[in-house]
Amino acid sequence: MAITLSFLVAALFASPLGASDASSYARSPPVYPSPPGKGVGIWADAYYSAQDLVGQMTLEEKVNITRGFTVTDNVCAGNTGTVPRLGWPGMCLHDAGNGVRATDLVNSYPSAIHVGASWDKNLTYERAFYMGKEFKAKGINVILGPNAGPLGRSPLGGRNWEGFSVDPYLSGQLNAETIVGHQDAGVIANIKHFIANEQETYRRPYFGVEAISANVDDKTLHEFYLWPFMDGVRAGVASVMCSYNRINNTYGCENSKLLNGILKTELSFDGFVLLDWNARHNLDSANAGLDMLMPGGGSWGDNLTQAIHNGSVNDDRITDMATRILAAWHLVGQNDTSFPTPGIGMKNLTEPHEQVDARIPESKPTILEGAIAGHVLVKNDGALPFKENPRMLSVYGYDATVPDTKNTDVLFQLGYTSSQEMGQAVLGTEQHFDQAAKGGTIVTGGRAGANAPAYIDDPLSAIQYRAKSDGTWVNWDLTSSNPDVNTASDACLVFINAISTEGWDREGLHDDFSDGLVLNVASKCANTIVVIHVAGVRLVDQWIDHPNVTATVIAHLPGQDSGEALVKLLYGEAVFSGKLPYTLAKNESDYAVYAQCGRGPSNTTDPQCDFTEGVYVDYRHFDEKNITPRYEFGYGLSYTTFNYSSLLIETLDTKLGSGGPITSSSDEKLWEFVATVNATITNTGEIGGGEVAQLYLGIPNSPPKQLRGFEKSVLPPGESAEVIFQLTRRDFSVWDVIAQGWTVQEGEYAIYVGASSRDIRLTGSIAV
Ligand code: BGC
Repeated sequence: MAITLSFLVAALFASPLGASDASSYARSPPVYPSPPGKGVGIWADAYYSAQDLVGQMTLEEKVNITRGFTVTDNVCAGNTGTVPRLGWPGMCLHDAGNGVRATDLVNSYPSAIHVGASWDKNLTYERAFYMGKEFKAKGINVILGPNAGPLGRSPLGGRNWEGFSVDPYLSGQLNAETIVGHQDAGVIANIKHFIANEQETYRRPYFGVEAISANVDDKTLHEFYLWPFMDGVRAGVASVMCSYNRINNTYGCENSKLLNGILKTELSFDGFVLLDWNARHNLDSANAGLDMLMPGGGSWGDNLTQAIHNGSVNDDRITDMATRILAAWHLVGQNDTSFPTPGIGMKNLTEPHEQVDARIPESKPTILEGAIAGHVLVKNDGALPFKENPRMLSVYGYDATVPDTKNTDVLFQLGYTSSQEMGQAVLGTEQHFDQAAKGGTIVTGGRAGANAPAYIDDPLSAIQYRAKSDGTWVNWDLTSSNPDVNTASDACLVFINAISTEGWDREGLHDDFSDGLVLNVASKCANTIVVIHVAGVRLVDQWIDHPNVTATVIAHLPGQDSGEALVKLLYGEAVFSGKLPYTLAKNESDYAVYAQCGRGPSNTTDPQCDFTEGVYVDYRHFDEKNITPRYEFGYGLSYTTFNYSSLLIETLDTKLGSGGPITSSSDEKLWEFVATVNATITNTGEIGGGEVAQLYLGIPNSPPKQLRGFEKSVLPPGESAEVIFQLTRRDFSVWDVIAQGWTVQEGEYAIYVGASSRDIRLTGSIAV
C-alpha cells in the first residue's frame, strides 16, 4: 500500500510522463521568484537592523558578504567577506557535532546519536547552550549544526550518528532544543543538510558522474524528511545548509522548488541558506534561493555583481540575501560589541596564537550527565549493577582503551587527519575500512562532526581508577581475539565498537573479529558483559542469546567523559534511562532499505535512488510488515521498574477534522494544541531512576504507530509523576498532495502510551 500511494503522489509532484520507473519522472519543478524574508515574529527587530545596515552597502559590499574568502590565519571551515567601511567584521563558520572542531581548549560532548538515545530535552538544551558558548568564545559566528539529515533511511549511512534519530519527531524535537540552546548562547545555528541527504555513496558529483538523485514523493518528503526541518524553522533557526545530493534530479543548492517553494514560502524561513562546502551550484542558484557560498566564491565570484548588472539576478535578490545574513547575525545578538573578533580562537595551531580557553566549569555536569544518559542497557540477566564491589574484573577488547592518535589508521578512521584530502578521496575512489575501529575506544564518529578533547576518559582507565579505591583486581588483554580468562573473575567486560565516518557509508552492521571475541570470552566466562560503542546501528544477534552473555550495553558515542559515565552505571551510582533512537534488527535484511543506492560496480553517470519505501522506514516498516526486531525503537532497560496508569485523553478541538488544509507552516493553527493525553508513571522498584514515557499515534492510512510525544521523568522509588503530552494539529495531520496542505482525516486515531514502540502499556483513541 505504501508504495502505491507514494508513487501516485510522486506522479503529481513531477511531470506526468506516465512512466513506471520513478527516476524517469522524478522532477523538481521550477519555483520563482525567490521570496524576500518577511522579518516577522522573533525576526522583526533583527530585520529592522539588518535592513538599515544593508541599506548603506554598495552592491560590491553586499556581494562580498554572501561568499567565502580564503583566510590563512584561522582554521574556520569558512570565512565571509567583511565590510570595514561600516564596521561589519564578517563571520567565521565552523563545525560542530561534538564540539568545536580542529582546535584546542574545548570540550568533546556526546554525539547527536547519544543525545537521541537520552530522549532528554533539558539535557539536549543544556548541551547545546554550553557548546554554543564555546563556539562564541572561539569567535565562531555560525555553528554548522545541528543535523536533521540524514535521518537514517539506511542503517549503513555514514553520517547517521550526526543526527539524533531516524524518527522525524524525535529528531525534530531535539533539533529544536539544540537550535534554541545554540542561539541563546549567541551563535547562529545551521540546520543541515537540506534535504534527503541519506547516503555518502555518490554524495557529490565527480568527473562527469552526477551526485545521487534522491527521488522522493511529495507526501514522504513532508511527512518524513521535512518534518524535523519544520521544527527547526519553528524554533527560529537562523540558517539552513542545502545538501550535496540531487533531489528529484535537481541539486539541493540549485533547487528552487525546495528553497524558494518549500523552505522560504511554505515554511516562511527568514534566515539564510548556506551552500554545503563546494556543493554544486551556479549563478542561477541565487534565484533559486541560495544566499551564501562556502568556502570560497565559487561560480559567483565577481560574476554575481555582473549578473546583477545585466539583470540575470535581480537587485532585490542580492539585497534580500545580504539582509537575511545580517538579520541572522542580529537575531542572536552578534551586533553586540562584546562578541569576540571572528575566528579569534581558531588560529592555526602550528603558528604562535592567542590562547582562548573556551571551556567553562558550568558545562562539566552537563557533559557527564549527557554521557550517562545516552547509554542503553538492552540485556540484563541480573549482572548489573554490580552487587558489591567486585573482587576481580577482566577487561577485553580493543575498544577499552584510549585511542592512539599518533597511529594514522586510527586517525583515518576518526577523521582527524588531512580532512581536505579525505574530502577529495570520496570523489571517485572507494574506501573500505573495518567496522571496528581497533585503535581504541571511540567517543565520536569521524570528520566534520568530530572534535578532539583534552582527555578521553577511556573505559579501562576508569575501571582501574575505581579499582584503586575498592581494591579490585583488574586483568586486561586488549589485543587477543581469544584471550585467556582467569576463572576467578567476577565479571568479564568485553569492549567492541563500530565506527562510521562522513564521506563513506558503512560496510556492514557487525564484524567477525568483534563477534568472535565476544563468543570466545563468553565460552570461558559465565558472567560476560558486552559494551559496544557505536556510530549507528550494530547488530548483536551473533551472540546476544549466549547464556553467558549476561548483560549488554549499547554505549553509543559519549564524548570525553565516556569511562566515568560507564563506571557510574556499572556500579549503580547512576541508573540507565536511555532508549534506542532506532530499531536494532535481528538481520540486515529486516530493514526497509539496507544498502544505499549505487553501491558496487556501476557504469552510470546519472545515479538514481527511488525512495519507494515512502515513510515506511525503521519501526514504521517493522510494524507494518510485522517483523520482530531484536530490540525495538524506544527500547531500553533500567535498574528499576515503572508502572503506567490513569490514561486520560482530552480532545480540545472537537472540530479537528474540519477547517481545510493548512498550506503554510507559519499558520498558527497548525501548532495549536488540539488534544492532551495524561498518564501516571510510578517507580515500582527499589531504587530511583528515570523513565522515558512515549506516545505513539495511529493515524488512519499511515504507519501503525508514529511517535508524537515523549517525556522523561526521574522518580525516587515508590513515587509517581503525571506526564502530559500535548498534541498539536500537525501531530494529527497528513500531507494532502492535491491541496498542498496539512489536513486531518476523519477516522479513529489510536493513542498508545508506553515504555517503547512495542511495550505499550496504555491505549485509547480519539475519533475525528
Ligand atoms: C559537510 C558539512 C560540513 C562542511 C564544512 C561538508 O563536507 O558535508 O556537514 O559542515 O563540510 O566542514
